Amino acid sequence: MTSPDACQALTHPITLPFLRKLKAQRQKFSCVALYDAPLARLAEATGVETLLVGDSLGMTVLGFDSTLPVTMEHMLYHVEAVARGAKKPLILGDMPFMSYATPEQALHNAARIMQAGAHVVKLEGGTWLAPTVRLLTERGIPVCAHLGLTPQSVNKIGGYKVQGRDAESAKRLQEDAVALAAAGADLLVLECVPQALAQQITQALAIPTIGIGAGPDTDAQVLVVNDILGLTPKPPSFSKNFLIDAPDIPGALAAYVTAVKSGAFPDARHSF
Ligand code: KIV
Repeated sequence: MTSPDACQALTHPITLPFLRKLKAQRQKFSCVALYDAPLARLAEATGVETLLVGDSLGMTVLGFDSTLPVTMEHMLYHVEAVARGAKKPLILGDMPFMSYATPEQALHNAARIMQAGAHVVKLEGGTWLAPTVRLLTERGIPVCAHLGLTPQSVNKIGGYKVQGRDAESAKRLQEDAVALAAAGADLLVLECVPQALAQQITQALAIPTIGIGAGPDTDAQVLVVNDILGLTPKPPSFSKNFLIDAPDIPGALAAYVTAVKSGAFPDARHSF
């Protein structure tokens, strides 16, 4: 469904109730993972509803081989930069590897991410995280859960692979999603899961889902800005370089946001 607001500057700061309303109205919303003030400013001008300061910055900006070396200090530095660049989009800040291994540690570190300028913290993991999600949300820290391919667990998973392909792992993923939403999660990122599974989870939950490599049926889409702008040497198959057909960086960001809001991206070529 095409949103009437496709690619118009935001008129008000984006809130979680507003995103829930978009879901209820079946209007898609957009998210860009980015890491600095100038790109946050350009993205904001497109009307993007949400920005994610992802720990992908370990690979896209800092040159690490994975997200595991990313520290709280890296995250705080980049959340502050993005929050200085954009005032209206809802800002999601990633909690880095091992910064939320216990609920108490999560509470301490999530508060720091919020004080740096995030409006929501994002955590990777399934049902085991439910007590942490409950603790954070009860204390006023909104949580975006992250299921499917969870890059902080790459060594356990054995690579950056599509998750939930067989019946057993698909069932586990559905159960994780329900448990995290019941614990109070406000948003759910689904990364690299089959389109049909993402659709089932999206329909089962009242909270909005944000897909990346999860097909067209999630409530929102997120892409990493490096992929949108063709900066990734070997981009993942679900991503798309929007700069190829755009005159400049603002044009590429606008094309991405428009494609997400209209439902044109992702198509079958960018889904599993
Ligand atoms: O770190 C990140 O950018 C992410 C997205 C890819 C969802 O978690």
